[in-house]
Formats: sequence, C-alpha cells, structure tokens
Amino acid sequence: MAELVLKAEGIKKSFAARGPITEVLKGVDFSLEKGEFVAIVGESGSGKSTLLYILAGIDKPTEGSVTLLGKRLDEVKDEELAAMRRRNFSFVYQYDNLVPNLTVYENVTLPLVLDKKKESEFKKDVLEIAEYLGLADRLDSYPAQLSGGEQQRAAIARALVTSPDVIFLDEPTGSLDKERGRQVMELLKDINSTRGVTLVMVTHSEAHAAYASRIVRMEDGNIIAL
Ligand SMILES: Nc1ncnc2c1ncn2[C@@H]1O[C@H](COP(=O)(O)OP(=O)(O)OP(=O)(O)O)[C@@H](O)[C@H]1O
Ligand SMILES: [Mg+2]
Repeated sequence: MAELVLKAEGIKKSFAARGPITEVLKGVDFSLEKGEFVAIVGESGSGKSTLLYILAGIDKPTEGSVTLLGKRLDEVKDEELAAMRRRNFSFVYQYDNLVPNLTVYENVTLPLVLDKKKESEFKKDVLEIAEYLGLADRLDSYPAQLSGGEQQRAAIARALVTSPDVIFLDEPTGSLDKERGRQVMELLKDINSTRGVTLVMVTHSEAHAAYASRIVRMEDGNIIAL
C-alpha cells in the first residue's frame, strides 16, 4: 500500500475578525501519498490558502486533525514543528517570499543556517540547486534586483535546499507571465519526478494544474469530487 505522508480529517476553520463568524473550511478531508503531485484549484476565496496553511501547520484548524509525516500537528510542540519545517517539509508563499535585505544566496540558505548547518557541508549542494534552477549568476543579487520568475525560483530553491519530503506551494506561478509560469511548472514536475519530492500546489490556472498527478477542486470551503 502506498505510504501516506499527510492525512487531514474533518478540517473546519472559522474566522471571527470584527464581524460575524464565517466558516471558511467546512469539514475537509484530504490525504496525500508519498510521491504525489497534487494541485488544489478553485475560485478566489474558496479557502485554498487557508487549507494549505492548515495542512502545513502554519495555521490551526478550528476543528479536525492533520497528521503530517507521521505526527499529529496538534500534538507536536512548537519547537518540534519548527524543526520539521526546517528539515522535513517546506512552504512557498503566495506573496512576499524572500527577505528583501538578504542576498539570494542568503535567502536560499536561510533554513540551513537557522538549523545551524555548516556552510562547508551545504555549499556544494546549494550551488548545484541554484544551477538546476537557473539562478547560479543571481546568487549575489538582492530580491528587488530579480525578475518575478527569478524570485519565484529563488523561493523554490530555498524550499528545496533542505531536501524536504513535502513542499507546499501557494500559487507559485501567480505573478508570472505565461512562459515563465510554464518554466516553473516544468521545474516542479521535474522536482517531483526525478527528486521524488511530494508536492501540494494551489493554483488558479487549469493549465498549470494539468502538470499535477491529481487535481482537487475547492468550492466554498469544501473539496468537491471531480
Ligand atoms: N485571517 C483571516 N481572517 C478573516 N477572514 C479570513 C482570513 N483568512 C482568510 N479569510 C477569508 O477566508 C476566505 C478564504 O480565503 P483564502 O485565502 O483561503 O482563499 P483562496 O482560495 O486562497 O483565495 P485566492 O485564490 O484569492 O488566494 C476568504 O473569504 C477570506 O476573506
Ligand atoms: Mg490564496
């Protein structure tokens, strides 16, 4: 039987910021097998980012449970979750992916430095990943000096350097033109197939969702069958 890397059951999420409580997720069940590449699609406001944050332990559900890489996220301590985030899974955000006052190299190696890894141990690997992502000559630049596509690739590089089992990506091609978007999707597909990294990607684009091995659709806080 395929190995489950993530199982979410009965996920509900409500927000009550200055006003009536709104239920944004209404009881979502979702599982992910090792090696899958899943695209989550759906209209703006349907709850895609909220779900992705909860699956990755960045936000907590109001109800329900998430088991990621064998750990119940509501039972792990904050430090353990932070360590898992540095070592076992990573997240590429929809906006503001890079730290503006760090170079691309410093951004990409941040999770390793925070994890007290030695540069002599990771440098070769990082340069190889930068080469693979077409960023080798951009490592000394600052994020503002990069194109949108280069910034996205730098964020993906940072997500990759820790050799994670799972990468969560929220609209990784959202701010890219058609050609750059296609390049990033080719890259993700390759990361999934040749490196065996399990991917969960939120996207607006049906064309980009087609790169995934499975598509999940969200509608008004529920996952609907395709
Ligand atoms: N922190 C919050 N407080 C209150 N409401 C929130 C909060 N975060 C999200 N919401 C609401 O939850 C709903 C779902 O938001 P979410 O960001 O998950 O949508 P999405 O599917 O990712 O949309 P998009 O495609 O535009 O990124 C929206 O109506 C949003 O306004
Ligand atoms: Mg979103």
